[in-house]
Amino acid sequence: MIKGKNLISVFFAAIILIFSNWGNETMAMDKTKTIKLPAPSVKSDVSVEECILKRRSVRTFSDKKLNQAQIGQLLWAAQGITAVNKNFQFRAAPSAGALYPMETFAITPDGIFQYLPKEHELKEIVKSDKRKMLARAAFSQDFIAEAPLIIALCSVYSRVTGKYGKRGIRYAHIEAGHIAENIHLQAVGLGLVSVPIGAFDDKETAEVLNLPDDCQPLYMIPIGFPQNDGKGK
Ligand SMILES: Cc1cc2nc3c(=O)[nH]c(=O)nc-3n(C[C@H](O)[C@H](O)[C@H](O)COP(=O)(O)O)c2cc1C
Repeated sequence: MIKGKNLISVFFAAIILIFSNWGNETMAMDKTKTIKLPAPSVKSDVSVEECILKRRSVRTFSDKKLNQAQIGQLLWAAQGITAVNKNFQFRAAPSAGALYPMETFAITPDGIFQYLPKEHELKEIVKSDKRKMLARAAFSQDFIAEAPLIIALCSVYSRVTGKYGKRGIRYAHIEAGHIAENIHLQAVGLGLVSVPIGAFDDKETAEVLNLPDDCQPLYMIPIGFPQNDGKGK
């Protein structure tokens, strides 16, 4: 039989055990998988003029997947860190007040991943192929499901409206355009093709992407290798 002091010791030991185990379980749930992307290249044989000239909206893709270096390069062109000044990190595309309202997601046959600019890493959000659901959310633009990579730009408006009020919404939209163009031009530089997608159901798209309530999908960019000569519309 356990009595007096012993009983108190057993009670405290049980509390410690319960809390230490609870902590482990919480940590296990929080342990999100991240994938380190290869360092981006900052040199190319293709000039920016050639990229501008050759960029076209292409809606057919070959079956070939993109590798991590290509995915990382496109995400770096979108939102990668390109300069650090007094510990402040500037990104590849301009942003009103350098407030960076955009969250960038990569959707591949392997799942949905969030791009972490500071770490140049992908954070796994969903571990299954959601491209068909995304195509359906985009009013059945079925070619979206054939792209080996779709980059989704999603805005957290409060990051800009806090400083600029309603005008911040306009700034976020302008910024999405800057980011998208960087992606399109980088795609050409890598021998890839892309198309901007603005036509989709916001609510359905946000659900497929598993977005939090404060994050709104603005733009999607399917990217892949050209099927034939890259000029197919
Ligand atoms: C804001 C915006 C939204 C667009 N949305 C779609 C879309 O939902 N589906 C699509 O196939 N193309 C979309 N496009 C691509 C245009 O159709 C394309 O840019 C236009 O035909 C000009 O061709 P180009 O991009 O080859 O110069 C969009 C373009 C922009 C700028």
